[in-house]
Amino acid sequence: MTKIQPLLQQRYGNAQALPDVLQDTDLSKLDNLVLTTLLSHASLRHFSDRAIGAEILSVLIAAAQSASTSSNLQAWSVIAVQDPAHKAKLSELAAHQAFIREAPLFLIWTIDLHRSTEVIELAQPNGGVEQALGLESVDSLLIGTIDAALAAQNLTVAARSLGLGTVYVGAIRNNLQDITALLKLPQGVIPVFGLAVGYPQDHLPQAIKPRLPQQIILHHEVYQKENTLDETALSRYEEILHQFQGQVGQVQDRWRDKVLQRLSALNGRERLAEAFNQQGLNVFTEK
Ligand SMILES: Cc1cc2nc3c(=O)[nH]c(=O)nc-3n(C[C@H](O)[C@H](O)[C@H](O)COP(=O)(O)O)c2cc1C
Repeated sequence: MTKIQPLLQQRYGNAQALPDVLQDTDLSKLDNLVLTTLLSHASLRHFSDRAIGAEILSVLIAAAQSASTSSNLQAWSVIAVQDPAHKAKLSELAAHQAFIREAPLFLIWTIDLHRSTEVIELAQPNGGVEQALGLESVDSLLIGTIDAALAAQNLTVAARSLGLGTVYVGAIRNNLQDITALLKLPQGVIPVFGLAVGYPQDHLPQAIKPRLPQQIILHHEVYQKENTLDETALSRYEEILHQFQGQVGQVQDRWRDKVLQRLSALNGRERLAEAFNQQGLNVFTEK
């Protein structure tokens, strides 16, 4: 048995939920540390108070910066928050999630068009910014968000490889304007998500949250609508999640209800366009 086989089974809930090719093929050549680290991912929400060394933070940031970045624009910045009072304030603004206070490090990932604007001003002081139509575009929003997400995920994997855990925090978008003010973000800098980072209280989470079967999310050549989750496949996935939730002591709710619930409440995120506009990324309103 390879190391990745049990991890693959847990990722889909059980051996039967694995794609046939993974059940029938010898995977021993695929057994490596990168794959075991990736496949064993699970969010950590209980942190010890063990501090993160300055060299660890710096290596993690180098791993984040090693991610690909659109046209090498490097259109992101990250704010490392370690001060307990500062973290407590951020926790309050991000749905009062306790792990933000608990984790020794809370990272706020931002789209950074401020730096691009400064660079353009240096490149062409007279009119460069007016010429740079891309600065205030939907594509800038995507470029910055994609760059920040790739960097954060690199950091997440690097952190796990060093025995640290992480959890993403989308809830910072519930109060984006207050967070922007608290972090003194200049025009062009927009926070998109947070990431709590730290050592586990005992060990990194072992329980792997099962994902949808591959045949539902993987399309070959063109989108195959017939692969869309049908009632039977949905119920099968819900059964697998139900078992997982029981195993980790979570409320056993149905995934379909969770999806509805999550997409029925914006929790302050209906003000995001306003917050983006305020930061100078005026892409959602008529000019
Ligand atoms: C962008 C983003 C935002 C998230 N925001 C939160 C959050 O505010 N609170 C939280 O507890 N988990 C948050 N999560 C974690 C997800 O709930 C978690 O990744 C998902 O349930 C899958 O579980 P796993 O990471 O343990 O595999 C977020 C994840 C992502 C990618």
